Amino acid sequence: MSEPFLIGENMTGGYGGADILHGCTIAVERGKIAVIVGPNGAGKSTAMKAVFGMLNIHTGSVRLDGEDITALSPQARVAKGMGFVPQVNNIFTSMTVEENLEMGAFLRNDDIRDTMEQIYDLFPILRDKRRQPAGELSGGQRQQVAVGRALMTQPKLLMLDEPTAGVSPIVMDELFDRIIEVARTGISILMVEQNARQALEIADTGYVLVQGANAYTDTGPALLANPEVRRTFLGG
Ligand SMILES: Nc1ncnc2c1ncn2[C@@H]1O[C@H](COP(=O)(O)OP(=O)(O)OP(=O)(O)O)[C@@H](O)[C@H]1O
Ligand SMILES: [Mg+2]
Repeated sequence: MSEPFLIGENMTGGYGGADILHGCTIAVERGKIAVIVGPNGAGKSTAMKAVFGMLNIHTGSVRLDGEDITALSPQARVAKGMGFVPQVNNIFTSMTVEENLEMGAFLRNDDIRDTMEQIYDLFPILRDKRRQPAGELSGGQRQQVAVGRALMTQPKLLMLDEPTAGVSPIVMDELFDRIIEVARTGISILMVEQNARQALEIADTGYVLVQGANAYTDTGPALLANPEVRRTFLGG
């Protein structure tokens, strides 16, 4: 088997106290969608932070496109092509939509206008609201700003921690459609989701995380069809 585009392999670590992750492995194939689901406190966000370099792991490694990036800072990982939308505080509320997008491009020295237009094509409402403070937008629109900000670096891999938190089912479906559209452009997606059923429907690979360890790994549809996964994690 060839190496996945991104892999956090056998990751063990935490925030200085007891370990939160216990030999956790998460991988994404090039241009594919991987989804992490699991109960509250399972360590989903911690696994994302470990992959992005915000957490020290004392076993395992993170590799991107065959290169060991375990020792790199988050900023260095952005330069390598990783984009991350954290679960909370993922936009600057007092800045306008457009300023948020400009902030996302902080590592770039080239012309960012084409990328900004692509993001406005992906999320047309952001074009209409580009002069408004992002804090005035609805929850779904703010998430679009956060995703757009991460796309401004032209990442090869986009990491999203609960992009549909607190939005209506219709807005959730729309966001998932946009995420599929992003994946179709060749960008790999690693996503944590509370809306497990809907997210697994679009997942090429799904990970069920429990207490910082891999409980089940399979294609999204296979996990949805697995009676044990259904009973224990998907409410029957
Ligand atoms: N900054 C932190 N410092 C110390 N412990 C933390 C920190 N963040 C999370 N934890 C702990 O790590 C464990 C896993 O938390 P994490 O946020 O990764 O879970 P999660 O699966 O993302 O949960 P949720 O579904 O609620 O977002 C929890 O016990 C949590 O209390
Ligand atoms: Mg979380």
